[in-house]
Amino acid sequence: MANQLEIRDLWVSIEGQPILKGVNLVVPKGEVHALMGPNGTGKSTLGKVIAGDPEYTVDKGEVLVDGQNILELEPDERAKLGLFLAFQYPVEVPGVTIANFLRLCLNAKRGEDVSVSEFYSKVTKAIQTLEWSEDYLTRYLNEGFSGGEKKRAEILQLMVLEPTYAILDETDSGLDIDALKVVAKGVNAMRGPEFGALVITHYQRLLNYIVPDRVHVMLEGKIVMSGDKELALELEAKGYDWLKATV
Ligand SMILES: Nc1ncnc2c1ncn2[C@@H]1O[C@H](COP(=O)(O)OP(=O)(O)OP(=O)(O)O)[C@@H](O)[C@H]1O
Ligand SMILES: [Mg+2]
Repeated sequence: MANQLEIRDLWVSIEGQPILKGVNLVVPKGEVHALMGPNGTGKSTLGKVIAGDPEYTVDKGEVLVDGQNILELEPDERAKLGLFLAFQYPVEVPGVTIANFLRLCLNAKRGEDVSVSEFYSKVTKAIQTLEWSEDYLTRYLNEGFSGGEKKRAEILQLMVLEPTYAILDETDSGLDIDALKVVAKGVNAMRGPEFGALVITHYQRLLNYIVPDRVHVMLEGKIVMSGDKELALELEAKGYDWLKATV
């Protein structure tokens, strides 16, 4: 069984409008890949389809987690297989504290209740890594949070859930350098042979902190180029127009 997240010839549309046009991408377990590309090319769509967002129609193709096609599975079943999706625009959950939310997610993923002591030791460790305050655990999830605080809450979730594969859709815009560093800290703390990630980003800057094993570029619904971390530097310097000319 292949230990990887594989997107195979994925075609996706919304209301009859094609958005993804044959995406092929492999993220092996143990590697961190970056996905870059201009606005509106389908990067977030790819993340949402992998998460199971029902708004999108999959016209063709497969998304395989360690060889298993997940496209027919419910979002919670995908999470149980070890997938973690963080969205560009996190939702507010009034009335649910971060601590409760994290516990519910972890219990759901495990399929059984985690002990209170195990839960708190995980959360405490993650909070320390993120240099955050435990006071936030009793705040309602994302309610009244600043952009940076939402980001911390999301990365805290990543660290507590310990998924096998994570897809992080980063706006960068609006994230100050501290928030970028938080994302990087979380991802770097997770790095290891049992973790793979696809980090969607516009700016090379984030990749100074999360050094990717591979960089992929999406243009008009397709991956048009892949390379090592130098490719991100090249894109930063040259923009995307030269790539459009080559495809
Ligand atoms: N729910 C939707 N309804 C209508 N169009 C949509 C929807 N979601 C995505 N699209 C369209 O699909 C295209 C790809 O959008 P997507 O959000 O995936 O781009 P992106 O690469 O993430 O862009 P950005 O870099 O700005 O985040 C855009 O033209 C967008 O308008
Ligand atoms: Mg996007």
